Amino acid sequence: MTSWRHQLRRLSLTRVLLLALCFSAISLVVLAYWVSLKPSTSPSYVPPTRLIHEFVCPSDDGVHHVGPTNSHDEETLGNDRTEPRVLVMLESPYTRLGQAIVFILESVRYKHRVQVTSLGNDRRVLPPLTHAEKGRFAVIVFERLELYLSLDSWNRQLLDKYCKDFSAGIIAFAQPDEKLLNAQVKDFPLFIHSKLSLQDYYVSSESSVARVIRTQKAYVGNVPGSSWTVFISNHSTYVPVSHARISYTAAQDAASATDSTAEMPNIIYTPVILDTGAFDGIQRIFFGSGFEFWLHRVLFLDCLSFLSHGQHRQTLDRYILVDVDDVFVGRTGVRLTEGDVMAMIETQDRLQNYVDGFRFNLGFSGKYFHRGSLKENKGDDALIENRDKFWWFGHSYAHTKAHQFTSLHAIIDDMLHNQAFAQLHDIPVNTSYAVAPHHAGVYPVHSDLYKAWQQVWDVKVTSTEEYPHLKPARHRRGFVHHGIMVMPRQTCLLFTHTIFINKFPGGSQRLDHAIYGGELFQTILFNQVSVFMTHMTNYGNDRLALYTFESVLKFINCWTTLQLKTRPPLQLANYYFQLYPDETEPIWHNPCNDRRHLDIWSEKKSCDKLPNFIVIGPQKTGTTALYTFLAMHPSISSSRASAMTFEEVQFFGGDNYLLGLDWYLDHFPPVPQDSSSHHLVFEKSAGYFDSELAPGRIAALLPRVKLICILDDPARRAYSWYQHMRSHDDLTALSYSFFDVINASSHAEKPLKNLRRHCLNPGLYAQHLERWLNVFDISQMHIVDGETLRTDPVIALNSVQKFLAVDPLLDYAQLLRFNPRKGFYCPIRHPNNNNSSSTKCLGSGKGRSYPPIDDKSEALLKSFYHKSNLALSQLLQKLGREVPTWLQTS
Ligand code: A3P
Repeated sequence: MTSWRHQLRRLSLTRVLLLALCFSAISLVVLAYWVSLKPSTSPSYVPPTRLIHEFVCPSDDGVHHVGPTNSHDEETLGNDRTEPRVLVMLESPYTRLGQAIVFILESVRYKHRVQVTSLGNDRRVLPPLTHAEKGRFAVIVFERLELYLSLDSWNRQLLDKYCKDFSAGIIAFAQPDEKLLNAQVKDFPLFIHSKLSLQDYYVSSESSVARVIRTQKAYVGNVPGSSWTVFISNHSTYVPVSHARISYTAAQDAASATDSTAEMPNIIYTPVILDTGAFDGIQRIFFGSGFEFWLHRVLFLDCLSFLSHGQHRQTLDRYILVDVDDVFVGRTGVRLTEGDVMAMIETQDRLQNYVDGFRFNLGFSGKYFHRGSLKENKGDDALIENRDKFWWFGHSYAHTKAHQFTSLHAIIDDMLHNQAFAQLHDIPVNTSYAVAPHHAGVYPVHSDLYKAWQQVWDVKVTSTEEYPHLKPARHRRGFVHHGIMVMPRQTCLLFTHTIFINKFPGGSQRLDHAIYGGELFQTILFNQVSVFMTHMTNYGNDRLALYTFESVLKFINCWTTLQLKTRPPLQLANYYFQLYPDETEPIWHNPCNDRRHLDIWSEKKSCDKLPNFIVIGPQKTGTTALYTFLAMHPSISSSRASAMTFEEVQFFGGDNYLLGLDWYLDHFPPVPQDSSSHHLVFEKSAGYFDSELAPGRIAALLPRVKLICILDDPARRAYSWYQHMRSHDDLTALSYSFFDVINASSHAEKPLKNLRRHCLNPGLYAQHLERWLNVFDISQMHIVDGETLRTDPVIALNSVQKFLAVDPLLDYAQLLRFNPRKGFYCPIRHPNNNNSSSTKCLGSGKGRSYPPIDDKSEALLKSFYHKSNLALSQLLQKLGREVPTWLQTS
């Protein structure tokens, strides 16, 4: 029986084992089959532990509720008695906090003026606070409260009166040098404890200051910074802006020193306090710490908005667009798999909860489709299958940088290939948007790229991080060129090669720091429109982009009242340029002064073509004579005549500037291959001198250029202009005498007033010179006496040659002869032929014969220019320059 039972047991044990084996085998097969079918996760993808961490928004529980949340009134009327400008009082331009204040103001583009003044400096002065009965500042920010408190009584009274009269507010940061306990703030019913560590911080709704930062949401735990000041007062003028407790360790330390602080951790203190003005009629906000704690950056903006009565206020809308720069370009091993694509879609769905209408915006270069491993090619297929879930835009087909194409035709050809690829795969391309590989061609502008975009795709919008320069990011701006709106782009710390968190520069803490209140968070906070650049590789591998964006957007949603939105690029660009209408006109910079720009600039273009010096005018002072004579020099090349602008280029003063740098460069001859390094290139456009725009534009492109201007008697210049207009059959000049023109009243008809302006305005030399000297050093400018140029050009040309340090020094006495018939010096036709005295004078339009100026006009002009000439004389003497002969006698 026992053996039978034993047999039976052995039999069933064998059977069970067999059965189990069979079951395992079948399960393995089924599992293998199932795994092979399962599409949604990349089997090889193991998310690093750090990335599984999900941001959790702290609840509002545990915070003492004292009023409605975020009650800062959206409709508050602006303060029309002051300009929307912030005055920043710094102790030194180099302090961390001072720089951070300026950084924030620049980032949000609030107008500001920085005034450096230091404690113990008797010459501490405020800048002029009013202008034409209007206040110049809406808010005054003191980097240190101590700086404000120690203002001498005269300045303090002046400032206090200003603040009362113009309802301007004050922000000050308390940074006492020593540890203080219950110390009174000088002149105020306010006390402080200082040098503390804090915990459990929240912004209160009592004060109505909070607008962007969410109130009643506690930052639990230790707050960054170890030198906090807290404010204590019983006076009704003070209302807490935020609350926190003193951290236990700090309180324990304090308690060991004195028993009076034993209760500190249980008391709720005020690290930021509002003085409502009930005490002395001035609204102030005192911060108990700087910006080490990210939340204070948001709060600072809210304080500016509150104290400026809404003058310094951005909307709560924050538009973001996330470009995935190129979804097919990447080497095998780091490309997207099917699982990555699914993860993108899932994340995108979730992000729509935070960002109204969110979609990833995918750029494509068709040539690289299906260029990965089998698994990665499935990723490409998954993108195409799910194409309707994304927005799409075109790159170049082969991801070639625009400046490397040999011709416009070649760029067009490449784009047509990409277009055909999109058609083949039925990709719903947003044709109004395109991005260039490596930003090449967008800025610095490669005109052919813009032309090709318009012809092939009808592109209306693009974006770049290069205008005006990559760094600093807060200075990036937009512009419009060739009808295409160029939006600034932001970076999110993820580049093509940052794809694994363990290789992230600075480690995962750096990325988290940027997300949770740091750089990335602030980019979205400060910029009302952010176009982010990411790369395909950021969505595969560790999927850093998904983690980054989901975390930062949740964080923003949690801590701020900002309304996150997205829109297709065209709508976004229209919105951007509505916000910043001043940005439409670009300012061109020299690509050779920026390594990155030079790398994406065509080799066919050369900075050597750009002028070394410019004759800036003014008109009718002998600019053509000087231009002609200088062009005779073997080491000097002039700009080429153009069908559009004739002898002059006229780039910097007017609308030709908008045609771009390529257009400007086309006006200069190719640099001679064998030319010495001393070869100089120049142009002259006589209208630059009195143009409002030219000095700034020239300084931006050619900061080291040399400038030559000719100053002749302005009365003579005015009369010459009048005669010039008459000989060009200008009806007004023909209808009115010179006296009538210069004597025309402000009620005269428009053409007469215009002619008067053109006759008289350029001759106000001092005021125009000042404008040039605002952006150029005087050492870059040479002034030619117009009379000397006319009567003794050799002298004038010698001093010009010296100024230009041109080699060789040409003896113009051998090249120019006075032509009695013309009445002017003219170039000798064959200067090498000693017997030749024949000259080739300037054309009939230069050195015209006309009757001398009448006495009445001469007298009128003498009095008209009297003040201006005096100012010029004084200016030249101040600058150590020679006063022209005509000015000495005028
Ligand atoms: P007028 O024609 O009224 O005499 P611009 O070239 O800047 O338009 O200036 C023209 C003026 O240059 C002429 O004005 C003339 O007086 C002056 N000029 C000076 N040197 C000259 C030269 N060598 N030949 C011709 N005109 C000269």
